Amino acid sequence: MKKIRVFAPATVANMGCGFDIMGMTLDAVGDVLSVEIGEGDSLTIINKTPHKLPEDVEQNVITPAIRAFLAAYGCPMSVTVTVEKKIAPGSGIGSSAASSAAAVYALNELLDHPFTDEKLVEFAMEGEKLISGGTPHADNVGPAILGGVVLLRGYDPLEVVRLPVPGRFCCAVAHPSIMVSTREARAVLPKEIPLRMAVKQWGNVAGLVAGLAEGDVSLIGRSMQDVVVEPYRKHFIPGFDALRTKVLEVGALALNISGAGPSVFALCENMTLANRAGEVMKEHFMQYNIESNIYVSKISNRGARTLEDYNFSD
Ligand code: HSE
Repeated sequence: MKKIRVFAPATVANMGCGFDIMGMTLDAVGDVLSVEIGEGDSLTIINKTPHKLPEDVEQNVITPAIRAFLAAYGCPMSVTVTVEKKIAPGSGIGSSAASSAAAVYALNELLDHPFTDEKLVEFAMEGEKLISGGTPHADNVGPAILGGVVLLRGYDPLEVVRLPVPGRFCCAVAHPSIMVSTREARAVLPKEIPLRMAVKQWGNVAGLVAGLAEGDVSLIGRSMQDVVVEPYRKHFIPGFDALRTKVLEVGALALNISGAGPSVFALCENMTLANRAGEVMKEHFMQYNIESNIYVSKISNRGARTLEDYNFSD
């Protein structure tokens, strides 16, 4: 028997304009898993968190991720995963991704690193496929494993690019207590988009990458505009347009839906502005009688790690 405890962080997928191809890593919030391996051929998942997770092991995102890892490793074993701490499912800050990322990261550590980080991203993506209605995407699992800002240059074959993170790069995330499933949020999206929208969107994606490369937080903020997905999803979030106006008024550079929602995030130039944006978001949701959790953080360069390395203040 070998055992390890690992942490994988929460993440903000899409970063506004980069639907399914970009994501960034938060600190101070994430999943903690204990993973034990031994002889045999079985998978057990134990939930020690207050959150309701699927009772059927086949419906847990951890399962396809672990199966993909073990199929590539080529040697069956008994695996017991204990979920000790969990981001609230359906929050829009990579709850499922943190679990599947942590699980494959733990196996890789226990087995002496048979796989690269990129390969781990590929395995963890199988969990995302399960909850999204069939489309594997890595804009949460990528940053959850690698940390920092991650670009998925392509999926066939998978190419993962880690982008530089400017020093002054903060965000406030509000998680309102409403449920929007990834499956539901993807089902409302169109299958095709007009060329003029594509032109706007790829201008923004290019601007975002250039802003990250140059450390130009203002260019990053201007580029975080989503004309493709947001119009179809913003109705899930009460008063979304008004919230954007209010958050920009107090000095945030951009406000967008985090991943599939319902969380929203405000990009800010410093922690003072991010704290202010967080307060505005909290007040906004209170007006609708909706409680929200606010996370204010710099973008962390650290992804999945063993618990000994685990430090919320990084
Ligand atoms: N890129 C994904 C989406 C993130 O927006 O649907 C959520 O898993």
